Amino acid sequence: GSATGIARRLLDWYDEHARDLPWRARPGAAAPGPYRVWLSEVMLQQTTVQAVRPYFEHFTARWPTVEALAAADEGEVMAAWAGLGYYARARNLVACAREVAARGGSFPDNEDGLRKLPGIGAYTAAAVAAIAFGRRAVVIDANVERVVSRLFAISDPLPGARSAIREAADAITPDERAGDFAQAMMDLGSGPCTARDPACLLCPLSQHCAGRAEGDPARFPVKAPK
Ligand code: ADE
Repeated sequence: GSATGIARRLLDWYDEHARDLPWRARPGAAAPGPYRVWLSEVMLQQTTVQAVRPYFEHFTARWPTVEALAAADEGEVMAAWAGLGYYARARNLVACAREVAARGGSFPDNEDGLRKLPGIGAYTAAAVAAIAFGRRAVVIDANVERVVSRLFAISDPLPGARSAIREAADAITPDERAGDFAQAMMDLGSGPCTARDPACLLCPLSQHCAGRAEGDPARFPVKAPK
């Protein structure tokens, strides 16, 4: 069906065009593992990819494992976090590392288990389950919201449209490679499917896109009037 066609096209595009980011698998290198995936997703929640890069490199050099981070001095972690903002994230980071260390150093490998850890909400649990553990999970951030609302021309305004967006995202999420699928959606949102001026000619999903077919994909997602 068209849902599997969308996933297949997107994954093929990702295999060619994925951004090279330090928290992703690199050709010939080991898969990143849950510690690096979790750390990157927490850092990326309210911060851009470009701003996160040097912090991620510094943290993983200074604290290469979750056990190392669990044993860190909290003040030193807070100092290393300075500049990223939202300092509750850093305090939860240490608390979460300590809980995982107390479990023998292994993260729970599914969304429900991950959700119970400090600082891990629905988004982070889904992202880690999919990217680090290969679970089928529906991962929705603002980029994914924009891509999906365009793809299906979802014309209800946000925030009410979120349930329809989630349903549509669920319908196109594949059983295999859900983590790559999620990251491919993020790359579409930061690449061709930008907020203001989408470059549909560069988009692997343009043939499937109802927003484009209607003529004005940039009008999605529709925002409620203030
Ligand atoms: N934003 C949040 N998570 C991301 C990821 N894994 N890759 C790129 N951008 C992201």
